[in-house]
Amino acid sequence: MIFEPFTIRNLNFKNRIVRSSIGGRTSFYDGTVSTAFKNFEKKFAANDVAGIISATISVNDKRTSPMEYPKLSHDRFVKPLSEAVKAVQSYDCRYIIQIGDTGGHTHTSLFRQPEDAKSCSTMFDFAYGYQNRMIKMTTEEIEETVLNFAEAGRRVRETGADGLEITASKGYIIHQFLNPGINSRKDKYGGSFDKRFQLLEEIIRATRKKTGNDFPIGIRLSSSDYNYLPLNLRLPVRFPLKNWYFGNTVNDYLIYAKKLKELGIDYLHIDMGYGFINPKGNPGKFPLHEMKMFYNSNRHLTAKAWIRASLLNVIPEFILNPIMNTGWKYIQGISADYSKLFKEETGLPVIANGGFQELNFIEQTLQSGKADMVAMARPLLANVNLIKLFRKGINIPDKPCTHCNKCPARTPLSPLGCYDISRFNSQDEMEAQIMEWSALPDERLDSEKEKS
Ligand SMILES: Cc1cc2nc3c(=O)[nH]c(=O)nc-3n(C[C@H](O)[C@H](O)[C@H](O)COP(=O)(O)O)c2cc1C
Repeated sequence: MIFEPFTIRNLNFKNRIVRSSIGGRTSFYDGTVSTAFKNFEKKFAANDVAGIISATISVNDKRTSPMEYPKLSHDRFVKPLSEAVKAVQSYDCRYIIQIGDTGGHTHTSLFRQPEDAKSCSTMFDFAYGYQNRMIKMTTEEIEETVLNFAEAGRRVRETGADGLEITASKGYIIHQFLNPGINSRKDKYGGSFDKRFQLLEEIIRATRKKTGNDFPIGIRLSSSDYNYLPLNLRLPVRFPLKNWYFGNTVNDYLIYAKKLKELGIDYLHIDMGYGFINPKGNPGKFPLHEMKMFYNSNRHLTAKAWIRASLLNVIPEFILNPIMNTGWKYIQGISADYSKLFKEETGLPVIANGGFQELNFIEQTLQSGKADMVAMARPLLANVNLIKLFRKGINIPDKPCTHCNKCPARTPLSPLGCYDISRFNSQDEMEAQIMEWSALPDERLDSEKEKS
């Protein structure tokens, strides 16, 4: 089934695998995508994935998170992005652009700035965002955010992309509003289950007006927040306590998903957890060294960031490791069972995300109707030719992704690639692989295409 085509609205996919969002420092300082962005995306397209969902591209001009990540907050970003879109499409690969806004989870910044604290409510969150506190947005700021998404949606269409995905997951701004452990507003954007959905609803309505009715729009949605993971401290405590501890559960999200269907969205992209990175969204190990690097890289910005980095620096690793690994473990196809519920409840096409790597497991997931398509990120970074191996009947590559999670933790700082030295014969070999990802000359891929 994995090699059977699938259609979402008017979009035909040649098989059932899409490359999931992989964000990295592949843009110029202002957020304009560079040739590195294009070459990175092209490599997946040339290796047979049916579609690519872009990195989360920021709709907010101020919140560049992290530095040198792509933006779509201005018309000038359209043309360079459209070149990458075209390059990917030339491989019979669909390109879906995901847009988002990190809000109070903004990972880092050139200088500390108040915009990076903006969220639904004022709150302290130790693990996510560099600002000391998230600060409640005014109604005007919320309206501006809706407009940012709508304008970015229009630009997505102008790039020639095949579809648009709005991220309501990853702990980013829409997710902050949806999450009852975070959103304590008492206006039309919070205070009840329905009102927490208001921001997402306004964004979808406004964006749809700009993209037109015939343009596929999908929503990346967490299937359950698991607010208690990873180990974190969020204050003040919200009541009822279960909201603060769990966030939205799968039953809550199933209701939201039905509302999304009523709003006319075309597919759901289902993952898990709250915050980037988190153990349910990136099932695997906790990347202690890489998180230390990241927290240290922004410790100069605020007192919270400084304390966070200092704790990791001074507490011995034999104590830190077991504590920080709480909840972190690899679970194959972690969202598959929940995806099935979303498929059944809404009847919408569903892409399942998280922990897929083996041919047989993916095949089983598709055949048992748990998902229509499967999205992968880390396994494709580890073995970009994975789909070609699947075609030969190989269940799992010789050197599979180990789910060490060094790659997502490194992404705000380092070039994209696999950082698990155990998968390479030498450091030089690992480094060569990293350097090749974005610097691959276009001509080489083009000649490979001609040969095949
Ligand atoms: C290096 C890296 C960068 C990522 N960047 C993004 C991103 O920009 N937006 C997003 O929604 N998810 C991002 N993710 C999450 C992946 O899209 C995916 O959901 C996650 O890695 C779990 O899938 P996997 O088990 O196939 O890796 C990133 C993951 C990795 C490894």
